[in-house]
Parts: sequence; C-alpha cells; structure tokens
Amino acid sequence: MKGTKTIYICSECEQKSPKWMGKCPSCGAWNSFVEDVIAVKPTATESAARRTSMQLSSESVARPYNEVDIPTYMRCPTGMNELDRVLGGGGLVTGSVILLSGEPGIGKSTLLMQICDALGEGHRVLYVSGEESTGQLKMRAKRLGVKGNNLFILTETHLERILSEADKVKPDVMIVDSVQTIYSDSSNSTAGSVTQVRECTLSFICKAKNEGISVILVGHVNKEGGIAGPKVLEHMVDAVLYFEGERQQSYRIIRAMKNRYGSTNEIGVFEMTDTGLCEVANPSEMLLAGRPTNISGNCAVCTMEGTRPLIAEVQALVTPTVFPAPRRTNNGIDYNRVCLILAVLEKRLGQRFSQNDVYLNVIGGLHIDEPASDTAVALALISSLTDRVIPDDLVAIGELGLAGECRAVSNLELRVKEAARLGFRRAIIPYRNIEKRKFECEGIELIPIRTIFETLSILKDHS
Ligand code: TYD
Ligand code: MG
Repeated sequence: MKGTKTIYICSECEQKSPKWMGKCPSCGAWNSFVEDVIAVKPTATESAARRTSMQLSSESVARPYNEVDIPTYMRCPTGMNELDRVLGGGGLVTGSVILLSGEPGIGKSTLLMQICDALGEGHRVLYVSGEESTGQLKMRAKRLGVKGNNLFILTETHLERILSEADKVKPDVMIVDSVQTIYSDSSNSTAGSVTQVRECTLSFICKAKNEGISVILVGHVNKEGGIAGPKVLEHMVDAVLYFEGERQQSYRIIRAMKNRYGSTNEIGVFEMTDTGLCEVANPSEMLLAGRPTNISGNCAVCTMEGTRPLIAEVQALVTPTVFPAPRRTNNGIDYNRVCLILAVLEKRLGQRFSQNDVYLNVIGGLHIDEPASDTAVALALISSLTDRVIPDDLVAIGELGLAGECRAVSNLELRVKEAARLGFRRAIIPYRNIEKRKFECEGIELIPIRTIFETLSILKDHS
C-alpha cells in the first residue's frame, strides 16, 4: 500500500526492526518479532487519535495526598459466584477493563454470554462479536437459556463503528469478543497485529475510564500460551484472567494473573455441560471423584487456592529406567521442586530413585505450586517405589526442608477442616504447626511429624 511499509515488531517490548530477527536486541526475547504494517509518516488522523487516546483523564493536576478521596468501587454481580470471586468478590468493577484469555474452544464466549443475564439486571449490556454473526450468537444464547433483557448484540470488527454504536446504545457493560479481530482506521496494519491490538485496547480503555463503562475484552492466546499481541496489553488493562482446562475434560478453571481490584490467588471452577458452564462450588469433591482405592503411588494433598482449601490427588509412578539418564516427567508440579524432593529422599532415606524413571501427575489439571504439598509428593513417590499403599483416608500436609524436616504451613486448620469435611480420617501435619498452639478437629486424627522419616513408620503402622 502507498505510504506504508512493512516492519517487524517485538511483541514483548515493541522494539521495531526493518528485518525479522530471531532474538530481540532490546529485551533479549527469542522468536518475538511479528510482521506489522505502519504508515511511513503518521497521518493527521493517526496523530490525533493517539493524542486523544492517551488522554485517560482530564484531571492532570497534582493533588496533595491527604485531599484525595478513596473511591468506592461499584460492583456489578455477574451471576456466577466463581467468576465474581476471581474478580475480587462482588463482581465487575464499574469502569474497569478486563482481559479474558484462553485457548480456542475453552468456553470464553460461552461464559461471557451466560453472564449477560445477571449483568442485564439494571444495566445495559452490549455484546460485540467479531467472530460470530448475530444469528449464531442468538442461537447459542437461546441454548444457554439467556433471556437477554437489556442485552444488545453487534457483529462488527471496525473499532470506530463499534464506538459510535456504543454511543447510541449507552451500555454499562461492553463485551468485545475478541480484541484480535478488531481493527482501527488509525493504523494501516491488519487486525490482530501488535499495533492494532494496542490501539484498539487503548481506545476501549479510554471509553471505559471516561464514561464508566466496564469492558471485558476476549484475548486469543499464541502458540506458547501467552496472550497474542503486545506484552504491554497486560500492563494496560485492570485485570487479566486466564481460562484454562483440558478440552477433553469437562472442568475449567479461571484464574487471575493480574487484578487491580483484588487478589490474584483466587480460582473459579466450572464444568462444561450441554447447557453451558456450571459453577462448581465444591471443587474438592469433583477432583476426588472416581479416585482409585488401594493402589500404591496415590496420596491426597490439601493445597490453598486463595482463601479456599482444595483437596487434590498426587499420583506417582516409579519404574526402573531403561535410559542412561532416568526420566522425570511432571504434570501439575514444578519440575525443580520434584527434583529437590527426590534428592532429599535419596540422600536422607536412601531411596534409590536415581535408577528409576519418575512420573508425577496431579489429577484434574490442577497446578500445585505450594511447598505445603511436598510431604504428599514425597509419600506418593515412596509409596510407588516400595509398592506400599497409602491409606485412602489419609491426607498429607507439610513442607519439606533439605534435611528432611517437615516445616510449618499456613492455614493448617482450614486445610484439616476441609479434609475432615470430605471424609478423610487421618492427616499428617507438621509438628511445628501445633508446637505452640494445639488444635483438634472433629472426625479426623492428627498425626504430627517432625521429619519425613516419621511418615515411614506411620505408613507401616497404618497400611
Ligand atoms: P466457546 O465459548 O465457543 O469457546 P471460545 O470462545 O473460548 O473459543 O466454547 C466452545 C466449546 O464449548 C465448544 O467446543 C462446545 C462447548 N460447549 C458445550 O459443551 N456446551 C455448551 O452449551 C456450549 C455453548 C459450548
Ligand atoms: Mg469464542
């Protein structure tokens, strides 16, 4: 096109280059350069658009700290407690911009359509889709049982037309599915390019902040699982939510990677059914359903996800290796953490893991990054290696130190209570936790341990 040129932009730091490069000289990222088309000289509209889009607020006077009022965030419930919890409790904050990202087909559009009804109570909702026709959207909404009061649907990919339509509809909540399909006249590059995604997101942020509209943007993911487009996208928005799960399995987990209005520790759990996504208020029950009994290598673990204790299951399989270097395959647990636990067991207990392949898996697609799950992982490994069964009614909680000591964990009472509620009758806990403050929990026997060596005798006694 006349007056334009093709350049390459680093999606991590937006460094520009006339040629494609494997490694960004500015930020050092590999494989981050993507093609883009820019105007040789910025046009008058482009410069004007940039100027206005940068104006987030008319108030640009420095004010004394003590005179600034604390804003009260108005929240709009989404009708899904699990989603509200991830958003910081209570729902969508008025005027906030949220980026919802996830693999194709995971259920982003389904979730957003389902929350339209609850949002529509007392608010006007505009659902903009750049991917599906209005007919398709209505068909899906009908199947999901969405009544659609106060809901407006628009199929459009042109940013300026979307904004002018929004001026007419005057929505309180605007959903844009997806930001990678929207293009603006202010840039010559194609929809989904770094420049376009950046420009369009900035425009939506300005709209949100200046008019108090809550905006939910759907973001595609790239090959590596990150959000497609410029890295700054995540800095620009108020919250970044990831929707994840195995497409073959029915449950889905939503977690906040960034949230200016709440904690990023909370997760929301859903199940995909014929009639859309259903909330799972008791994820532990779901994670433990269909648990194999009386088999070696399985150990229940209690991990905290935000304020909520979750009982999951760690499975280990230890088999003699046929490789020169034994294999270590982990799913849901940090690789380095597992290597550390294996080293402790090998050195302190003399267990021969170095001649065995080790496969570890956490059921339900859950990631346990908490050190409090160390004891359970260690027990599962020993159980598989020695082929001795861990009792099904036993849950193990505690962090492992390099000397094999079992260290205290946070929220022990909450964890033990959750285990008792789910029918566990014995809990291995760190002695350090109850050293100063004893506690009891009805229906569950507490087995305090100082080191991992004691678990062995406990296992012998109990199995
Ligand atoms: P969708 O929301 O279109 O995914 P995304 O927007 O993240 O790409 O979800 C599509 C998948 O969800 C599709 O593979 C079918 C499944 N699904 C159900 O199982 N039940 C339903 O009621 C709906 C609407 C979708
Ligand atoms: Mg979709």
